Amino acid sequence: METTIAASKTSASAEADFLPLQGTDYVEFWVGNAKQAAHYYKTAFGFQSLAYAGPETGVKDRASYAIRQNKLTLVLTTALRPDTPIADHVALHGDGVKFLALKVEDATSAWNETTKRGGKSFLEPTTLKDENGRLVMSGIHTYGDTVHLFIERGDYNGVFMPGFRKWESDYNPPETGLMYVDHCVGNVGWNQMNPWVKFYEDVMGFRNILSFDDKDISTEYSALMSKVMSNGNGFVKFPINEPAEGKKKSQVEEYLDFYMGEGVQHCALATNSIIETVNDLQKRGVEFLNIPTTYYDELPARVGHIDEDLEPLKQLGILVDRDNEGYLLQIFTKPVEDRPTLFFEIIQRKGAKSFGKGNFKALFEALEKEQEARGNL
Ligand code: FE2
Repeated sequence: METTIAASKTSASAEADFLPLQGTDYVEFWVGNAKQAAHYYKTAFGFQSLAYAGPETGVKDRASYAIRQNKLTLVLTTALRPDTPIADHVALHGDGVKFLALKVEDATSAWNETTKRGGKSFLEPTTLKDENGRLVMSGIHTYGDTVHLFIERGDYNGVFMPGFRKWESDYNPPETGLMYVDHCVGNVGWNQMNPWVKFYEDVMGFRNILSFDDKDISTEYSALMSKVMSNGNGFVKFPINEPAEGKKKSQVEEYLDFYMGEGVQHCALATNSIIETVNDLQKRGVEFLNIPTTYYDELPARVGHIDEDLEPLKQLGILVDRDNEGYLLQIFTKPVEDRPTLFFEIIQRKGAKSFGKGNFKALFEALEKEQEARGNL
């Protein structure tokens, strides 16, 4: 099978988008120590303090820190007691993504439309109120223990959501130019990619816009398959990865072994100036995968003219790929926890709507070096 780019079906998606999404509202991580995690994302990635919820705001079982940079909002949540779903989640998975929260106009309709198509309810439509208005949220389960929340904040004017108060801090490291969530990738188990593709099609009205098989994405050792799912307006994209047979253990298998199941592999954060952003992130201690410098010898022939100088790209290890519509620049962090699970991608799109297929080989060889160092290859 070849890589396929699905034909544009704008008329079909325009006629019946039963789940209109306005984009990613926030990404919530359940972590072992939310205070320290929030400090890390402020210090290393340049997020700004936004809101806090905990015992001081009437929430007894958890503490949550909301942080923001442009259109990107992260929430770091930890359990305050051992006998809670948050503590169980962290014990099993380590730090990881619990909620991929999506912005909707109508959270009740989103829940009705998805659950009647087979989505498993996590939270029935629930109205939260405080002096700043009302916010409606609902949610359905997706792969692993991950959940999609639907957030309707049309009648809410507070800083984040009811239960939270504004978090003002004296420690405010500058931003790094991160703008919004470009896509979030899920790793699923053997033979589970197509069932989850069907879930996004049937339950959420997404389309499969790109497919990669193990011939596209394999090295001498490991392989994976991937399908990219997009909602109707293209604001929300969820690629789904599944391991494929290789000589040795695939990177997706390593993730599944250490996350103890399916979950979010990486979130791609967009910037308008990747050289400045990555330079800044590296200075702040963010660790990126090392790409062999030979990658850059073949780059000009492969991608043609680009606006950026090659030298800073090479120094920082930024990858470039081109498709029919333009090109993109991307780089991947090492996992941001001790388990080899969640990592981040930093991406700048210059017309390209694809995901960097031309970089897969260089990237996976870099990943395998890391896997080998951990004894998991
Ligand atoms: Fe990605």
